[in-house]
Amino acid sequence: MSKEKDRQPFISVRDLKKYFCLDNYKLAKAKTRYIHAVDDVSFDIYKGEIFGIIGESGSGKSTIGRCVLKLIDVDSGEIYFDGKNITHVSRKEQQELRSRMQMVFQNPLASFDPKKTIRFSLEESAKVHKIKPEVYKARIKQLMEYIALPEDLLTRYPKDLSGGQLQRLAIARALMLEPDFILADEPVSALDVSVQAQILNLMLDLKEDKGQTILFISHDLNVVRHVCDRIAVVYLGAVMEMGTVEQVYNSVAHPYTQALISAKPKEHPLENKKHILLEGDIPNAVDIPEGCRFAGRCRYFKEGLCDNRTPKLKDIGNGHYVACHFPLGIDRSKTASDM
Ligand SMILES: Nc1ncnc2c1ncn2[C@@H]1O[C@H](COP(=O)(O)OP(=O)(O)OP(=O)(O)O)[C@@H](O)[C@H]1O
Ligand SMILES: [Mg+2]
Repeated sequence: MSKEKDRQPFISVRDLKKYFCLDNYKLAKAKTRYIHAVDDVSFDIYKGEIFGIIGESGSGKSTIGRCVLKLIDVDSGEIYFDGKNITHVSRKEQQELRSRMQMVFQNPLASFDPKKTIRFSLEESAKVHKIKPEVYKARIKQLMEYIALPEDLLTRYPKDLSGGQLQRLAIARALMLEPDFILADEPVSALDVSVQAQILNLMLDLKEDKGQTILFISHDLNVVRHVCDRIAVVYLGAVMEMGTVEQVYNSVAHPYTQALISAKPKEHPLENKKHILLEGDIPNAVDIPEGCRFAGRCRYFKEGLCDNRTPKLKDIGNGHYVACHFPLGIDRSKTASDM
């Protein structure tokens, strides 16, 4: 396989839009208000990489994930999976896709049926997909070894297990159908810090051992830095910055990312770090501001430009993208309006 072929994206998201209608009752079209949950988002995920989406609460991370997994319909834009446009597929095709795309959610207790044993929950999808019992039983055995849990836990009910054990079992369940892609939406946010590392290391093992492709959603910069290869920083439904973890953390280009990184607690008490205050809250996603959506909170805000023209997401070198009129680290007097 040529190098070029290797770099074909496994998943491509193009100009994705998802708005939610805010009003329950019918209004004239012009008066209907929409939450702009996802607004023109594009990114690629390559096979075998962990791609992270990071941003504050309400920035649209989960909505992007749910659109990619076809759990909700998109308003516009396109989603390609393994070379195929899956934006509008039939119900039957959607079912086939389900086995190739799996998910792990934030709250492992809520993701298991409380009335069923763990074994039942693990076997369920295999039965639906008509996998032979000897095959899925052997697979469960292997997976329990892989997640380093004893098989006797399989006879227990979800309430009788710890959050860390359950999340490992949720990952095992996601692997039952040997999927090509896993969406992990805040998989460690509900867990004790002491068990977070176990789950994150398991994610890294999946990448190393199985070449698993993962979309990893989190609001925690430490977590994302630890597991992801590339990341997209989203703000109010739009990508502000995107690149490798090194590019985004070591050559930060967007003032929003800079503020997020600076707000992150020190990893070591002697770490020399200045805090940049991220003032105000994320604006509501209904009245999207004119121009740059981060303008109202940006310390480099320039009147007449930032509140007027929406900066396009542009490659500033080697696949490092930024949507800012004045990207950091670039001579600010020379950039401005051509961005
Ligand atoms: N089903 C829905 N109906 C109406 N609004 C929704 C729906 N799902 C999400 N939203 C809204 O869309 C916006 C983005 O929500 P989303 O859950 O994608 O954010 P998020 O980045 O995942 O946040 P968090 O970090 O809190 O999980 C929010 O304003 C949210 O209230
Ligand atoms: Mg979410």
